[in-house]
Amino acid sequence: MADIMEKIVSLTKRRGFVFPGSEIYSGIGGIYDLGPLGVELEKNIKNAWWKNIVSQRENVVGLDSAILMNRQVWHTSGHVESFTDPLVECKNCHTRFREDHLPKSKNCPTCGKNDWTAPRMFNLMFKTHIGPVEEDGTETFLRPETAQGIFVNFKNVLDTMRVKLPFGIAQIGKGFRNEITTGNFLFRVREFEMMELEYFTYPKQAEADFEYWQKERMDWHLSLGLKKENLRFREHESDERAHYATRSVDIEYNWPFLASQGKPGWGELEGIANRTDYDLKQHAKESGKDLSYFDEETKEKIVPYVIEPSIGVGRMMLALLIDAYHEDKNRVVLKLKPELAPYKVAVFPLLANKPELVKLARKIYLDLKSYDLGLIAWDDRGNIGKRYYAQDEIGTPYCITVDFQSLEDGTVTIRDRDSTKQTRVKINEVKSKLEKPLT
Ligand code: GAP
Repeated sequence: MADIMEKIVSLTKRRGFVFPGSEIYSGIGGIYDLGPLGVELEKNIKNAWWKNIVSQRENVVGLDSAILMNRQVWHTSGHVESFTDPLVECKNCHTRFREDHLPKSKNCPTCGKNDWTAPRMFNLMFKTHIGPVEEDGTETFLRPETAQGIFVNFKNVLDTMRVKLPFGIAQIGKGFRNEITTGNFLFRVREFEMMELEYFTYPKQAEADFEYWQKERMDWHLSLGLKKENLRFREHESDERAHYATRSVDIEYNWPFLASQGKPGWGELEGIANRTDYDLKQHAKESGKDLSYFDEETKEKIVPYVIEPSIGVGRMMLALLIDAYHEDKNRVVLKLKPELAPYKVAVFPLLANKPELVKLARKIYLDLKSYDLGLIAWDDRGNIGKRYYAQDEIGTPYCITVDFQSLEDGTVTIRDRDSTKQTRVKINEVKSKLEKPLT
């Protein structure tokens, strides 16, 4: 199983999905750049999340808060004090690890010895400074979660959007964590895009809403094509929960690399937490601002509880790539859902040296590009079989080919990625044929 990761890392590099960060300078640990196809896949994942969480609901609104926030935010939220992992160092080879990520044997993964320093708590936030002077008062942090931007804007949203409990505020944006050890490609990195929903609710309804969001989130993963057998829920033990949570359930994915490293294959894909009224109360106390909600029915002020589903886009991308990766006899296919695939369709002339075929194919290509169908690929290199395989490998669900029959009867072939079956379609019906399965 381990080699599926090698294959995915190689495919995503070779075909322009993911590049190691700052590669020409030997890279930078735990940072990746998205290439032209990666950025499309990422955008499609984010769009699918936004559609499901914001656009299709009546009671969730969006937000885009700044990455840099007043340093007090991170003191109040508890991150300065508690957003830490236990760091140990091998006394023999001086490699550093997260104590809770050591193998069962506790032997050093680098040199094999078992001789560690005592653990010390290492804060995962990246420090930076605001303004030209680097002194204590100018220090702040790159956000390790987007959630705090939501909590500090709670009152602004209440005042401007006429929202009523229960309601949610959703945000997609970068998070930064100075992880002690990174690895497993996009699984654990230091800079990543997060999709977070803070769902504000009545305290007495929080437990029921927690159950509701568990189901909603699992259904979303299944709707995007993740395999049911690779997903499960896992309730956190009290000693593994974040400092703000009274209950946490992970949606876990059966990662092939964890299994091959002698650890259980199951690992976090998404976290769902009951943050109670912890954050709003803390911010109200430290800022002196009233962050309560006035309930019109009971005429009471309430500090809502918060249910938070939170997931990293890169981790989702990795799970999708693993489940989508297939090898047939002579081809590699990424069986991504059409709505996620970087290119929605590719257009080819059967032969590149026949100007009449190229002319008609270009016309169809440019015409399709003028609609809001998503990205359309053009390819006229090499033989047609190779072009099909090249599109299969990046997950393009349909390929349109203009051949000699096209010139005679105004039809083209549409080839389906998964079945490889080709159907003949009138040129003026291509758009509607594509739209149906693409929506
Ligand atoms: N606001 C809640 C929160 O930050 P979390 O469980 O620490 O919760 C949420 O992170 C999600 O972010 C995780 O479920 C995972 O998908 C993703 N994530 C966390 N740390 C990550 C890292 N170092 N690299 C990639 N993704 C990460």
